Amino acid sequence: MVILKIGSKLALILALGCGLTAVAASVEEQGTPAQEKPALKALMPKGLLIGAAINQRQSDGKDALAGAIVERQFNTISPENILKWGLIHPEPKRYDFEPADRYVAFGQAHGMAVIGHNLIWHNQTPAWVFTEADGARSTRESLLAKMQQHISTVVGRYRGKIHGWDVVNEAFDEDGSYRKTPWHEAIGDDFLLKAFEFAHDADPQAELYYNDYNLWKPAKRAAALRLVKQLKERGLRIDAVGEQGHWSLTTPTAAEIDATITDIAGAGVKAMITELDIDVLPRDPKMFGADLATRAQLKAATDLYASGLPPAQQQQLAARYGEAFGIFLKRHDLLTRITFWGVTDAHSWLNDFPVPGRTNHPLLWDRQGQPKPAFDAVVAQLQAYKGAP
Ligand code: XIL
Repeated sequence: MVILKIGSKLALILALGCGLTAVAASVEEQGTPAQEKPALKALMPKGLLIGAAINQRQSDGKDALAGAIVERQFNTISPENILKWGLIHPEPKRYDFEPADRYVAFGQAHGMAVIGHNLIWHNQTPAWVFTEADGARSTRESLLAKMQQHISTVVGRYRGKIHGWDVVNEAFDEDGSYRKTPWHEAIGDDFLLKAFEFAHDADPQAELYYNDYNLWKPAKRAAALRLVKQLKERGLRIDAVGEQGHWSLTTPTAAEIDATITDIAGAGVKAMITELDIDVLPRDPKMFGADLATRAQLKAATDLYASGLPPAQQQQLAARYGEAFGIFLKRHDLLTRITFWGVTDAHSWLNDFPVPGRTNHPLLWDRQGQPKPAFDAVVAQLQAYKGAP
């Protein structure tokens, strides 16, 4: 096989009669074939899981390329969409469990920690949840009853199979106030406490999490940590807080990432990075202003790397991932999980967010499933950590 792979170079070397040393050097030059790259999960410190969110084609076993990467590299999976309310419980009396059952079975078959994402969120939740049959807005009592029914049904079904649940997702605004959502509007501040109570009742063994983005912003982080305190004061359980980790090449800073992890741990729970990806395309808020012409123009102006990520940006991305993993390893005893939001760049949600139809490059594997320099940078950090005294 090796001979076939290095083809004409080997033939040339043999013809020149340079012997084995030269052959070895030639293999080296070609780089290690993708399948021989190390597995991230084998390099992680004990107690720190590494995983990816997978989409339905992947959990259905219909994406062999991503499937092979997930099986070899990771020991935890998250469902990109299929456990969200709108997908698993689209109508009041209808649950669509089959895709989620296959997702859970996929993780179990590979001995992975299977994550549940998510129970209570304002997005991807059908309008019927927040309205009554007569069209009126749901009351506190009615919405709490729906919440309890949904949580006990979904968590109950996967009791003992799902390792941990994102119980509430994205409940706070950037300034730390409660996000204005139908949940908050109808139930009030304690909707989060209720969700954690119902989740614990449905599976007392499953880990329970609060999950949000931009927790590196002190005001928002303070709100999440206040929630931890409130839950504990009421004798309710929360095991970890997840910073999603939808970051850019420059934001947040290393110090902000570090403070996020240490502050969460300081509140007496574990920290997790739950949806890691690094956006390489412009996201300047000015570009999304009202006067901004059309979406097509926005896409044209910002779809910078449609034909591939150039070497300089590959290196920038690699350095950024290396920096992040350096922090994760330094703080590994405060962290329980790092999950990428996707497997290869081909299916990252950032190809369509916040601008639809762009070509983004936020993950460790490119569109062909080849590991990028960013993958090597992560491996280098893990190997340096493993080799350290
Ligand atoms: C995203 C999915 O990746 C997309 O496929 C879907 O269209 C929208 O949601 N924060 C979260 C995730 O908690 O659930 C979101 O996932 C990304 C942002």
